[in-house]
Amino acid sequence: MNGIKLIRLITTLLLTLLSSSVLSETAPEVDSRVSQSRMVVEAFGSKLIGELKQALGDGGPVTAINVCNIEAPKIATGLSEKYNWSIGRTALKTRNPDNNPDAWEKNVLQMFEQRKQQGEAIAKFEYYEETKQGFRYMKAIPTKGLCLTCHGESLTEPVKTALLKHYPDDRATGFNVGDIRGAFTIIQKN
Ligand code: HEC
Repeated sequence: MNGIKLIRLITTLLLTLLSSSVLSETAPEVDSRVSQSRMVVEAFGSKLIGELKQALGDGGPVTAINVCNIEAPKIATGLSEKYNWSIGRTALKTRNPDNNPDAWEKNVLQMFEQRKQQGEAIAKFEYYEETKQGFRYMKAIPTKGLCLTCHGESLTEPVKTALLKHYPDDRATGFNVGDIRGAFTIIQKN
């Protein structure tokens, strides 16, 4: 590396350091309701993934469907009671009609889809707003390889049969990796 290149590199590094420290000083404080929502969504998501992986490993997809069917709503209810909020999952295409979005959620989900179509990375999609019902928060849930066993385009016969038994109106299949499967949704009641 010649001298000029080295000086350029050092200048860039210094400027980066400088701007990041300036930014962190002036960045607005994140609303605690947002940071709490993020924390709860994180806990909900990792608990679900943990249970799902364990059930898939222990008994295969059909057993795991029963776990999703019983455990997912149970985790949501447990967290809702713990925080005295309403905490759940929703989607434009749901498996369980209990998870159907209300008008506010539907708008947010459609906005997430638009942002994805414009090429934004979905992993960090979130939206929050003060509403009449309270402070509302949503965070997108990306479709991963693991999800395709039960939400993908080609399901095995036993999986199809088990899903049909619990969810005759299942609309949550045909997804690909990178699609928005749905979103976590929270209402912090006033
Ligand atoms: C073993 C099968 C199985 C796998 C694998 C699976 N799911 Fe599901 N998923 C279900 C079932 C069953 C439900 C319905 C749960 C209920 O009754 O609330 C569901 C519901 C959902 C919902 C709630 C909205 C709706 O459609 O009712 C979301 C969001 C979701 N799954 C995302 C995922 C993601 C993301 C993955 C991968 C990380 C995944 N799922 C993997 C079976 C599965």
